[in-house]
Amino acid sequence: MNSSLSVPIKGNFLGIETSCDETSIAVISDGKLTANLVSSQDFHAEFGGVVPELSSRAHLQIIIPLLNDALKKSGLTLKEMDAVCATAGPGLIGALLVGLTFAKGLSYSLKKPFIPVNHIEGHIYSGFLMEDKPEFPYLVLVVSGGHTLLLLVNSFSEIKKLGSTVDDAAGEAFDKAAKMLGFKYPGGPEIQKHAEKGNPEKIKFPIADLKGEYDFSFSGLKTSLLRYLQKNFGDPKSVFSVHHNLNDTELADTAASFQEAVIKALIRKTEKAIQNFDLKCISLVGGVAANKKLRDSFRELSIKYNKKLVIPALEYCSDNGAMIAFRGAKLFEQGKKFSLDYAPYPGLSPDHFS
Ligand code: KG4
Ligand code: ZN
Repeated sequence: MNSSLSVPIKGNFLGIETSCDETSIAVISDGKLTANLVSSQDFHAEFGGVVPELSSRAHLQIIIPLLNDALKKSGLTLKEMDAVCATAGPGLIGALLVGLTFAKGLSYSLKKPFIPVNHIEGHIYSGFLMEDKPEFPYLVLVVSGGHTLLLLVNSFSEIKKLGSTVDDAAGEAFDKAAKMLGFKYPGGPEIQKHAEKGNPEKIKFPIADLKGEYDFSFSGLKTSLLRYLQKNFGDPKSVFSVHHNLNDTELADTAASFQEAVIKALIRKTEKAIQNFDLKCISLVGGVAANKKLRDSFRELSIKYNKKLVIPALEYCSDNGAMIAFRGAKLFEQGKKFSLDYAPYPGLSPDHFS
C-alpha cells in the first residue's frame, strides 16, 4: 500500500469503520495511506441479509486483531496517533457502538482527540483517496445499501443536498431484486454478473418521474419486477419470495433490464444537475459505485459535459476505514472538537446536508 493521498495531511490518524457488515481499520500517516484492512462478514449471505446482532458480535471479535495488524502494517504504535476517528452513523446501532466505543476507549487512554465521522461524509470525500483528486465544486452521487443522495460539494465543510431517494436506496433495490431472482446477498454484484449475459432492452421497467427535480424512487421499480415475475413465471407472494422458475436466459435478461432501469434513473437526475450547476468535477461513490455499467455511464457523462471524473477504486467504494480516517483527519485539521459523550446514530437526519 503506502499510497500517497492526493491531499497532504500532517499527522497520524486511525480510522475505524463498523457501521454494517465490514470491520475496517485504516491508518493515514503524514498524507500516506499506510494501512486499510477490511474484514467482511460473508456469513450473512446464508440469512439473505445482514443480521444486526451477529454483525455486532463479529465486529467485537475481530476489532483488536485487525487493529494490531493495521498498526504492524503501518509500522506505527498507538501512542504515535494524533487522533482516533470512527464512524458514528448512519448504520446499525449495535455495530456502530462497537467501533465508536472502542475508539473512545483508545482516545481516552491515549489522551488523544476522538473524532466521530459521518459514514456518508466518508463516502462523499472518498474520491480524495485517489491519486487524481476531486476539484471543488463537485457533484457527487452517493449510492450505497442504505442511501441514495445527489449532493453539491463546495468544500471540506460545505455540502448541499440536491436530492435523495424518497423510498428505497439503489443498493437496497438491487438487493431486493436479487432476492426475488434467487441470487445471494449482497445482490448488487450478483445482478451485475447475470446482467452481463442479458439483454437490457428485453423488459421495459418503469422509471419514476418525481416532483423533486433531483429525487429518486426505487420502490415502484421493485414492485414492477414482482408483478412481472408473478405474471410471467408464477406467483411469488411478496418481494421477499424467491422465484425459481426462470431459466438462465430469462434470469440474465431480467437482471440486465432491472439494472438498466436503476442506472437510467440515477443518470437522468445526475445529468440534470450537471446541466444546472457550475461544476468542476463529478464523482460517484458508495457500494453501488462498484457497478461497472454505472461507472461506464458516469464516464460517458464526464466526456459529454467535459467534466473531470473521479470514481474511487473498488476497495474505496465498499465500506472502508480509509475514508473514515481521511474525513476524520480533515475535521481534526479544521480544529473540530468532540466530546466522549458523542452518541452513535442509526439514520441521517433530514436536514443533515441542508
Ligand atoms: O456502501 P456499501 O458498501 O454499504 C453501505 O454503506 O450500505 O454499499 C453496499 C451496497 C449493497 O446494497 C450492494 O448490493 C451494493 O452496494 N453493491 C452493488 C455492487 N457492489 C455492491 N450494487 C450494484 N452493482 C455492484 N457491482
Ligand atoms: Zn457505506
